[in-house]
Amino acid sequence: MNPEQASAWQQAVLQELGVEVWVRRSAGGEAAPGAAAEPVARISADIESGDWSALNQKIQACTACELHQSCTQAVCGVGDEQADWLVIGEAPGADEDRQGEPFVGRAGQLLNEMLRAAGRPRELVYIANILKCRPPNNRDPKPGEVECCMPFLERQISLLQPKLILVVGRIAAQNLLQTDTPIGKMRGRVYSYGDSGIPVVVTYHPAYLLRSPGQKRKAWEDLQLAMNATGE
Ligand code: URA
Repeated sequence: MNPEQASAWQQAVLQELGVEVWVRRSAGGEAAPGAAAEPVARISADIESGDWSALNQKIQACTACELHQSCTQAVCGVGDEQADWLVIGEAPGADEDRQGEPFVGRAGQLLNEMLRAAGRPRELVYIANILKCRPPNNRDPKPGEVECCMPFLERQISLLQPKLILVVGRIAAQNLLQTDTPIGKMRGRVYSYGDSGIPVVVTYHPAYLLRSPGQKRKAWEDLQLAMNATGE
């Protein structure tokens, strides 16, 4: 198979099967010629123990999918590592890619206002994304990229043990909750994540709210649902 056409997931499977797969080295990139995708199972095993700092090092060193070649840096997460609330977005954009922190652009400023309105200012929550590396031109994540990156988010959730997960945007919500349901239909109810049943509330992505300010009232209803879900 032409490695240019193989998804990260396919590359991981091929490597597991012992089929040599090469990945084109990006200009100035660290990947050695012939470097192959890291199997997802190995990533999960590699991060199942260890603290935040160990996890962040693994995220920054990850070469499991091709995104590490085009992004400036992996964006791990930011905030209080003992926060009650975890906010999950889609993937770093251009500002986040440059600064190494999630939600620092215009959408991030609106997210900050939303969190403040909910009584959870940015510094009191933890913020992470489904993908840690920026997809080129902010395209939607590919399924193989999500699959490679999900173990990192799962480990973030297991380290944080949040009392509530607020998911912003369709892509994050559909991938976390493993559904194709449109976001408009996902809003308005509290989901449950994982064995410990962490309450999950879905709302619109702040970038969408910037384009459609008329929907901010619904986002406020979602935030109230989140506040009620934790008995606040
Ligand atoms: N959009 C996201 O979903 N995440 C970010 O970190 C920035 C913009």
